[in-house]
Amino acid sequence: MHDRFAVYIRALVFTFACYSYSREMSLLTVVAFLLSVSEVTSQCPPSSGIYLMHNGDCYPNGSYFYDDDIRPEQLKCTLPGFTLNGGEWVTPNGSSIYCSTDPLRCDVVSAPNATISLYIPTGQDISPSDDGWYKCCLPTSCSDTSTNIIFANIFRWGQIEDTRVDLPSDVTVLPQTYTLHAIKIGHQNQLNTNYADWYYYNESSGTSTKLCRGYNDEYSCSIGNGMKVNYGNGRYDYTLTLTWNEENITSGVSSNYYNRVYMFHLEVGLATRYRYITVKVPATAPSSLTSH
Ligand SMILES: *[C@@H]1O[C@H](CO)[C@@H](O)[C@H](O)[C@H]1NC(C)=O
Ligand SMILES: *[C@@H]1O[C@H](CO)[C@@H](O)[C@H](O)[C@H]1NC(C)=O
Ligand SMILES: *[C@@H]1O[C@H](CO)[C@@H](O)[C@H](O)[C@H]1NC(C)=O
Ligand SMILES: *[C@@H]1O[C@H](CO)[C@@H](O)[C@H](O)[C@H]1NC(C)=O
Ligand SMILES: *[C@@H]1O[C@H](CO)[C@@H](O)[C@H](O)[C@H]1NC(C)=O
Repeated sequence: MHDRFAVYIRALVFTFACYSYSREMSLLTVVAFLLSVSEVTSQCPPSSGIYLMHNGDCYPNGSYFYDDDIRPEQLKCTLPGFTLNGGEWVTPNGSSIYCSTDPLRCDVVSAPNATISLYIPTGQDISPSDDGWYKCCLPTSCSDTSTNIIFANIFRWGQIEDTRVDLPSDVTVLPQTYTLHAIKIGHQNQLNTNYADWYYYNESSGTSTKLCRGYNDEYSCSIGNGMKVNYGNGRYDYTLTLTWNEENITSGVSSNYYNRVYMFHLEVGLATRYRYITVKVPATAPSSLTSH
């Protein structure tokens, strides 16, 4: 009985996969996004090798930086103990950044710690088409396979920093309730938000159903319950709490597929962002298990 119970529990546990899509969609985006969840710390560990530092804080590989953050405060990329030998920052389209030309400039320190500090001069802007994953390679260029590489996402206006799911406290009972979160960062003026919407996405038909609508300061959900939480500094959490009962997520959204795919769509200024999150739920009602 114990073994059977354990097998059921394994089958019932929710599993997640997160996908990050943007106009520069790539596998790299997915990997780097997953890394971005780590905490920001005020000290870069001495053993960290190549690191990113901004405003005195150490940032992990795959961190996001709003263009205003690096105008003109520098984003330092450092490899301690190495002398610069062709190191560079490279744009999302793969071209090397020329440190002496706008809109992205840099200050260079060759030794004792190879450093290239990226910034946007006051009065300059990157265009939304320059959004995306920038990489810093030290001490040699990015084309050198033995160089050290670290990624930073630099964006205009707004970005989805993270999407995640809060698990129910007991996954063995129906109905299940779980909460999706989408963390928006960037521009502090909500009047700039044209879309901040959650969708339920049908992989099979390619159609989507809008669950929540965000516009400027408004946010409301027609299926499920949601709220917008203001964390300050342009950071907002758009939540959506859903109830899943057997085949149905909530009334009106049912599926024979057990992968529940949700999409968060953000449009700020001229920038459009998407992020997908998949929630896998068990195929059968698990409520009878609670008696074991
Ligand atoms: C170079 O890096 C080392 C180790 O991180 C640090 O102790 C030292 O202060 C740095 N030197 C300069 C000039 O930044
Ligand atoms: C690559 O990006 C740089 C800076 O973002 C831009 O100046 C350049 O025109 C772009 N090149 C191509 C081929 O898109
Ligand atoms: C940063 O992430 C990229 C992509 O996963 C990886 O190739 C690179 O080695 C990482 N750099 C560091 C310093 O961890
Ligand atoms: C799911 O929804 C459909 C249509 O709204 C309904 O007919 C069906 O009984 C529901 N199934 C469950 C298990 O609630
Ligand atoms: C998803 O699309 C398939 C194929 O078109 C359809 O059979 C199914 O009912 C759809 N599910 C939902 C939840 O819309």
